[in-house]
Amino acid sequence: MSDPVSTTLSDASAESLSRRSFLTYLLGLAGALGAAGLLFPIARYAYPVKRVEVQPKVRVAAASALTPLGEAVVFDYQDASAVLILLEDSTPKAFYLACTHFGCLVKWRPEEKDFYCPCHAGIFAPDGTVVSGPPPSPLVELKVVVEGDDLFVEGTVG
Ligand code: FES
Repeated sequence: MSDPVSTTLSDASAESLSRRSFLTYLLGLAGALGAAGLLFPIARYAYPVKRVEVQPKVRVAAASALTPLGEAVVFDYQDASAVLILLEDSTPKAFYLACTHFGCLVKWRPEEKDFYCPCHAGIFAPDGTVVSGPPPSPLVELKVVVEGDDLFVEGTVG
């Protein structure tokens, strides 16, 4: 027959142990959640989610309406000004108009056959490369898609 006093002590000890285990579990869970709450933003910063941007395909002009190194077609693409011209060999080229120096808008000059930036006299060749002036890099080129006589732009090159 069991001793009632020792049984009570044994039950209290088991209950205390169970309560202690439960509290330890809760503290561990709170610590894990707290650590996750701290680590998640750090991990998100270190490994940003890469979003696949959809590059809209926009019709700009009919190739037959343009002449090589002639008039340019200025248009908006993704909320920025852009231009499309035909090179001397009739290859279509499109660029954002923002100068790569400080972002002024360049102008196509058909007489000089170049893009001119009025802010600091930067000059770009018809293929977008820097000819002279302070711009550090070529104009940002847009991908031109030719479908029959229609010229579309769809995202940037590279
Ligand atoms: S902003 Fe175009 S040359 Fe300076």
